[in-house]
Order: sequence, then structure tokens, then C-alpha cells
Amino acid sequence: MNLSAKNVSFKYYGKKKKKPIFELCSTSLDVPEGKLTAIIGHSGSGKSTLLSILAGVLRPEKGDVTVGNVDIYSLSDRERSFYRNKNIGVIPQGNSSLKHLTVFENISLPYEMYGDGVPRENIDAILRQFGLIELSDEPACGLSGGEQRRLAIVRAIVRKPSIILADEPTGDLDEDNRKNVLSELKKMTMSGTTVLMVTHDKEAEGYADQVFKMENGVLL
Ligand SMILES: Nc1ncnc2c1ncn2[C@@H]1O[C@H](COP(=O)(O)OP(=O)(O)OP(=O)(O)O)[C@@H](O)[C@H]1O
Ligand SMILES: [Mg+2]
Repeated sequence: MNLSAKNVSFKYYGKKKKKPIFELCSTSLDVPEGKLTAIIGHSGSGKSTLLSILAGVLRPEKGDVTVGNVDIYSLSDRERSFYRNKNIGVIPQGNSSLKHLTVFENISLPYEMYGDGVPRENIDAILRQFGLIELSDEPACGLSGGEQRRLAIVRAIVRKPSIILADEPTGDLDEDNRKNVLSELKKMTMSGTTVLMVTHDKEAEGYADQVFKMENGVLL
């Protein structure tokens, strides 16, 4: 599935509301199917903001976002959230796990919400692959930063979405885990998954098929 943005713009206002503290200038990009696309750029340049717009969670002031053949911001909030959950796996920046649920429950929850059976064996296999199997029954709030990062990755990829949007997927990870995450994302592109990754990691950049740079709200 392709993902594209056409002339999207967005502003964040500070407390005084007078002038924006951040502006994402009219941005267009194509994220082709089955490729790994990376966005790099300084802290505060707007990478996560752009990712949220592409994920369908932050409505741009202007412009369109197309996922597959669907203009997602023309959908109702409910339709868009359904469409997003079906097609897009998001690995947000920071800790996004549901802290009071166990590691396993964090992953099985979407299956339960959508009334699908919980594929225990698949979940165990992927937890093993990401070194989390021993922590399966532990509450997510007890995980280390790197373990939480890996849990967020597993949550996003386990249901094999067509598109993965990953914000700093290798942040907080050691060498072996970084390699494991990057090679898994790359492997998923080989079977047709579209991956867009924001990263500060030079090695991650090396895995990408195309790299964009963000500078002060402008995508170069
Ligand atoms: N919810 C918000 N309310 C107000 N301003 C915000 C909000 N989120 C982000 N900003 C501002 O928008 C700008 C861009 O933020 P963004 O999170 O997109 O940067 P980034 O490129 O992802 O940075 P980093 O590499 O540090 O994650 C920053 O100056 C930030 O302070
Ligand atoms: Mg960010």
C-alpha cells in the first residue's frame, strides 16, 4: 500500500496564540510500497509532527494524505480510526505501552477489541524474537526503556499491517537489538510492507531505500 502527502501544512501555537512556535510548511512526499523510507533531521524539526499527520492522528490545516487510494482526512473520525487500525502500525516515539497491562495483554488487546481470536503461538514467537518472552506476564510499567521500545515495535508489527510508521524505532536499544529491529523492518519491506521510519541512527539510515531530511519544518 502506498502512502502520500500532498501540500500538507500545520502550525503549533504557544501559550500566547499569536504566532506559531512551529510551522510545518507545505509538505509533499511519496512513500512507495515495499520500500523503507527514512526521515532524518534535527530535534524539533517536525519529524514526529509529520508522522502523526501521516498516521491520521493529527489533522493538517491544509493538504491531503492518501493511504492506499483513500484520502484519509475526508473520512469521519470513526472511519479514519478504523481504517488506520486496519492498515497502519505505528511505533510512536517514547513509551506508548498500556502500563498496567502485561506485556502479553498489550499485544493481544487489539485482537480482542476486533473480536479476532488471539493467536497465542504467533504472539509468543514474536515475543521470543524480540527477547521479551520471559517478560510476557509482567506489567509493562516494570519494563526498561529498551524493553518498552521493543514492546512498542511488537505491538505495531504483530498484525502485519500494510504500512508501518516508526518514530525512532532503534532509540534506547543496544547493538544486537538495533540490528534485529532494522533487519526485521527491512525483511517486512521485502514482502511488500511499506515502512517509513524517523531516525537519528546512522546505521538505520543505511537500511533505507530513500532518505528525506527535515529542516525547520521543511522536508528536503
Ligand atoms: N503538542 C504540541 N504542542 C505544541 N508544540 C508542539 C507539540 N508537539 C510538538 N511541538 C513543537 O513542534 C516542533 C516540532 O516537534 P516534533 O516533535 O515534530 O519534532 P521532532 O523532529 O520529532 O523532534 P525529535 O527529534 O526531538 O523527536 C517542536 O518545536 C515542538 O516543540
Ligand atoms: Mg520526534
